[in-house]
Parts: sequence; structure tokens; C-alpha cells
Amino acid sequence: MSGNVLKVKEQKDRYKVCYMSGDDSGFDMMEGALLVLESLNLPIDWVRADLGWCMWEKSNKKFGEGDARCNTVPPETIETIRNTDATLMAAITSKAGVKGFKSAILQMRQLFDLYINLRPAKTLPGIGTPLKGDPNIDIVLFRENTEDLYAAVEFFPLPEEMFNLHKGMERFKGEEVAVSWRVFSKKGCERIIRAAFEYAKATGRKTVHCCNKANVIRETDGMMKRIFLEVAKEYEQYGIKGIEENADATAMWLIKNPQDYSVIVASNVFGDILSDEGSQLTGGLGFAPSGNIGKDAALFEPSSGSVPKYAHQYKVNPSAMILTAKMMLEYLGLDDAAKKIEKALGEVLVESKPGTLTYDVLRDFRGDPNWEKNAASTIEMAAAIAQKIDPAFSGAKLDAAKEKVHKMCAWSEGDLVGFN
Ligand code: IPM
Ligand code: MG
Repeated sequence: MSGNVLKVKEQKDRYKVCYMSGDDSGFDMMEGALLVLESLNLPIDWVRADLGWCMWEKSNKKFGEGDARCNTVPPETIETIRNTDATLMAAITSKAGVKGFKSAILQMRQLFDLYINLRPAKTLPGIGTPLKGDPNIDIVLFRENTEDLYAAVEFFPLPEEMFNLHKGMERFKGEEVAVSWRVFSKKGCERIIRAAFEYAKATGRKTVHCCNKANVIRETDGMMKRIFLEVAKEYEQYGIKGIEENADATAMWLIKNPQDYSVIVASNVFGDILSDEGSQLTGGLGFAPSGNIGKDAALFEPSSGSVPKYAHQYKVNPSAMILTAKMMLEYLGLDDAAKKIEKALGEVLVESKPGTLTYDVLRDFRGDPNWEKNAASTIEMAAAIAQKIDPAFSGAKLDAAKEKVHKMCAWSEGDLVGFN
């Protein structure tokens, strides 16, 4: 592999970064994360874009329902992602069963060939794990992000001729059948596996686990396993051990012995599931960042949803978004700033001072029966973290920063960029 795909193509003195607040509480979490970033004086020029359910509604209003131009992603957003060095994206809302609706994030993964879904699961100070003995967890999961059942090659009803394609289909003749193709390519398997090993090599990690079901799903997972074992041989010389195992066993062992895992590589669906498990072991979705990374673009988003019931109420935990921003800073090579964010968040969580933690932290990790009353807002928690980074980030300076990021995340229809 030429160059390090987990790093921005070209290091610069100043970066142009696209930010997208997504939907609902996404705007709140983005505002919180941007406030923390303000305390760091970063060499970043922000460019706003929008996508998600809000744009689906806007386009339907503009073009009329059923018009082919209706989408969750406006053309302006695609342009902005293309013309910036990285993208920071907040949570979006998806609704099942809406005709013509296509998930914005799935579109971006395909369009920009963001084949790595990077999902770390790391024990946070002051949060710990729900497991006995509080084991130290530090896992980095590489989920393949463009193939598998997500290739969107699906049939319903199944065309007649397809019943004759394979003898295994004989028993389904005469039945109503839906089929989703599980497509793996050699290229797709190889590049995600290599990315995982390259990461292990660059960071001094000693094992890479490949989670598959080659014992049952012989062709797709068989291919994944075969390539994994071949590539693993190349990395033996660096003291890295490749271990392949059944994905169901991984799901079990992650609960029993999570400290035995370091780097995990998995296909799209297994990675989707295992990454949620990993995040639940390390604080849940309120703390789970992720990165969608390809050769030409990178889009960082929290793993959480947009919590529509709390939209624009500043109740949600900003941590997942803040840790997502931290991942993006690492991608841009701004490692000092990334370290400061991690340290500051840890300190706020450990100190657990009144007025600094959102409701979910009080309820789920502090056992506070008055969690509702005692909860800090998204912005209060973000401000506490920002002040750990820079104790002088207070008074008029803090107020000005709050006002700035509030404007950056304005969410009324007229503020949304795209479909203009
Ligand atoms: C994720 C989510 C998405 C996925 C959904 C929202 C399309 O679950 O990022 O893990 O399935 O990949
Ligand atoms: Mg998921």
C-alpha cells in the first residue's frame, strides 16, 4: 500500500474542513464539539454543508415528492466534501419505509469509496466497562465499509430465471423469496485487511483478529479468510500475529476476555454488529466515535443516532462527537490537539463535578437518582472540557466562542446549505 490511508494525503499549515450537523440532536452535539475545538486555536477553516433527513424534507418541498432530485444529500454537499481536506459529521436521522429515501451516510461511503470504517473501543477514565474486574479495553476495529450485504444488490420478487441458477434454490421454487447478495471482492477484502495490518505495524500492536464465518459461508468468508492468512504471513516479520476466528465466537469472547483483542478486521455486517458491542463495553454510543476513510476522502461521524426526541434541547452527551473530532485531528496530523482533547475529557469524567456531565452519564454511570435535575447541558459539558484544555477559555472569550459555534450550527430551514 502506498502512503498511509489513515492520514490526510497532504499535510498543510492550514486545513479546510467540512462540517455537517446532520439532524436533530446532531446540531447540538456538533455545537458542543466545535466549542471544544475553538479552545484549541486550530489551523482550520470551516466550511458548512448539510445532509440527512432535513435535506430530504427540503428537497421534497422544493422539487415535489417523487421527483428524482429529492435526496438526503444535496449536490453542494458532495462538492464541499470533495473540495475540503476532511469532513466532520454529526448524527443523522433515518426513517424506514419512506419511498425513495436513501441513507446519506451509505451514499457517502459508496460515492467516495470510504472503504475503512474505523471504530475504536477504548476504556474511558471515569466510565470504565460494565464487565467484572473492569478490564482494560483498547480495541481498534476495521470494518469493511462498501461491500457485503451493503452492496445493495437485492431482489424482490426474485426473477424466475434465478431459481434455476443454483441447485440450492430448488427448495424455494413456488415460494415468495427475497434475496440480498452478499458480495465480497478480492480487492475489497485485501485492502481492508492490509489497512488493519498496516495500522498494527505503525502503532506497535501485536495481534490482528479476522472475524468471519468461513466454516459456513464458504465463498465470501472463505475468500476473506484465505486472503487474511496470506497477508498475515507478510507481517510475521514485524512480530504481528494474525488470528482468524468465527465472528460469533468473537462476539462471545469480547464479553469474556476483551483485553485479548487489539486490532480486529471484519466484513461490513459483522463489523457493524461487533463495533456496537465494542462501544457498549466502553461506555455505549454516547462515547463512540468512528471514521469513514478512503484514498481520497475521510468523513468522521459518531456511531450514535440523532436522538430526535431531544432535538435542539441541548441534552445529549457531546462526548462521541468530541472523540470523533479527535479522530479527525489525528487524521490531519494534529496529534497534540487530539491528545489534549482526550486528556481533558478524561479529567472532566473523573472529576465528575456538578454541572459538567450530561444526563446519560449521571443516570448510567453515576447512579444519580436526580439525573434529570442535575444534568448539565451539551454546551455546559463541552465548556467544562474546553476549560480543561485552556483554563483561560472563560468569560467574554467563552461567550464569544459560544455565539460563534451557535451561529455555525443554526438549524432553521433558511440556514441549511444545499438545494438552493
Ligand atoms: C452504522 C450504522 C449504519 C450502518 C446505518 C445507520 C446505515 O448502523 O454506522 O453502524 O448500518 O452502517
Ligand atoms: Mg451500526
